[in-house]
Amino acid sequence: MKDIFTIALSKGRIFKETMPLLAHAGIEPVDDPETSRKLILDTNQEDVKLVIIRATDVPTYVQYGAAEVGVAGKDVLMEHGGEGLYEPLDLEIARCKLMVAGPEGVPSGHGRLRIATKFVNCTKRYYAEQGKQVEMIKLYGSMELAPLVGLADRIVDVVDTGNTLKANGLMPLEHIADISSRLVVNKAAMKMKHERIRRFIDLMQEAVVKNRPAG
Ligand code: ATP
Ligand code: PRP
Repeated sequence: MKDIFTIALSKGRIFKETMPLLAHAGIEPVDDPETSRKLILDTNQEDVKLVIIRATDVPTYVQYGAAEVGVAGKDVLMEHGGEGLYEPLDLEIARCKLMVAGPEGVPSGHGRLRIATKFVNCTKRYYAEQGKQVEMIKLYGSMELAPLVGLADRIVDVVDTGNTLKANGLMPLEHIADISSRLVVNKAAMKMKHERIRRFIDLMQEAVVKNRPAG
């Protein structure tokens, strides 16, 4: 039996933006995850499978070797910590910024700030580096709501166009990190299946260059 090569991806933005890169590496899924209920997708290559999971679960699947490689946002990787993973390639897709945001015209005050976020580890690290003590409220989504209903003073979330902040009367206040999606590789697989993974990384690297906007 052939050795299976498994790629972990999340639905939506990352799946859509990774597809042209995988196509360059000769990999095309048989089913569309937006319409299929399957969690393991076959591809045109018998020994290559895609597993479709939550964005935040991608590093975990790859860390434990349930997938040899995966695609995850740098935000998700910073939050996970990167244990057991190599991060050999910036795919230059799903670009955004991790930012502190808050209501327009509200001063930061002197008390301890309450920060709502799903990026608890990144946020703790960011404020610790500044020597500031903050109170954290862990949320799983729709962070922009928290300051509107008095749950928090600030949020930490990813921002792209800024439209979501604006629509909710919030503004970007502090830049934490530039974000894009990265190819991650299980450390043990990198040793055991070195040839195979090296070839895959090289093809993905070529695809990234080809995918760059002209100019
Ligand atoms: P989950 O559904 O598991 O909570 P998620 O909502 O963060 O995850 P996506 O919205 O598909 O999943 O985001 C995947 C990645 O894309 C994020 O980790 C981030 O790196 C990037 N991203 C998120 N929002 C945007 C955006 N508005 N524009 C560009 N990139 C984004
Ligand atoms: C993300 C993020 C923000 C929004 C920022 O959410 O949590 O809410 O995108 O993007 P913007 O600055 O362009 O408004 P999510 O992925 O749920 O929303 P989306 O799919 O609408 O981008």
